Amino acid sequence: MWVDPMSLIREARQGGYAVGAFNMHSDETTQALVHAAEESASPVFLQVGRAVVPHMGLSAATAMTRRVADDSYAELVLHLDHGPWGECLEAIKLGFSSIMYDGAHLPFKENIASTRRIVEIAHEYGVIVEAELGKIPDADEKVDWSSYYTDVDEAERFVAETGVDTLAISVGIVHGIPGDPQPLDIPRIERIRDVTGVPLVLHGASGLSEEEVKAATAVGVHKFNADTDLRLAFRRGIENVFSKGDRQLEEALAEGRDLMVAATIEKLGHYGCLGRSAVRA
Ligand code: G3H
Ligand code: ZN
Repeated sequence: MWVDPMSLIREARQGGYAVGAFNMHSDETTQALVHAAEESASPVFLQVGRAVVPHMGLSAATAMTRRVADDSYAELVLHLDHGPWGECLEAIKLGFSSIMYDGAHLPFKENIASTRRIVEIAHEYGVIVEAELGKIPDADEKVDWSSYYTDVDEAERFVAETGVDTLAISVGIVHGIPGDPQPLDIPRIERIRDVTGVPLVLHGASGLSEEEVKAATAVGVHKFNADTDLRLAFRRGIENVFSKGDRQLEEALAEGRDLMVAATIEKLGHYGCLGRSAVRA
């Protein structure tokens, strides 16, 4: 069942846990996320994201997600991940209840202006908006972290002037799994929470330990986005099957799906949201 995204995040904040947001890529990966939500009675954000959209287009990816999830009894949210301007508008038209507008690459004032406009439009349709401030590098990029971290004063101004519902921040995380991880800047997360007052989001949650997840949750992170770890689980399943010789593709996809369900439930356990869904089969 599709549920109100902001209620899930508010409940997580009140309960001291976080919700999981995971990317779908295909029928089987969407099924894995929905099965994991059902089996573990956990709410899940199903993210239509930056890999699947160029692959098949937003409309087809949305239709696929809905086809798999429409009849599920799990508490689910249809969320656009890392949307540029036009894609956010398309997602609102397609009936998403939650979007992430990614203007992090823009100069600060332009990020504020465009995010504020998206928020005005989205809120007219009852859609919540996550935005990003600070830059999140890819795992293989060499970065000077001081120019990537979210600045606390800018975060305060950004949230006050845009009216965003949640804020994705840069505090040492990367997209993908880095060889040499940067420790999370927990005091910075806490300061951003205190000056903004909105629930915070951590992208790049693959490779984070349970301890790091718990420390970030304790200081204001109530949505984690993870993709790479779950994709790797899916891939392991496929490789297991083909390592035995030629097999039907369906057998490999089914094993990939099974391993992705288990990996998703493990993440949901780290986030503290197992059993948090009120609705059962
Ligand atoms: O928006 C998606 C996430 O940030 C995925 O990051 O692949 O490092 O888990 P990840
Ligand atoms: Zn991300």
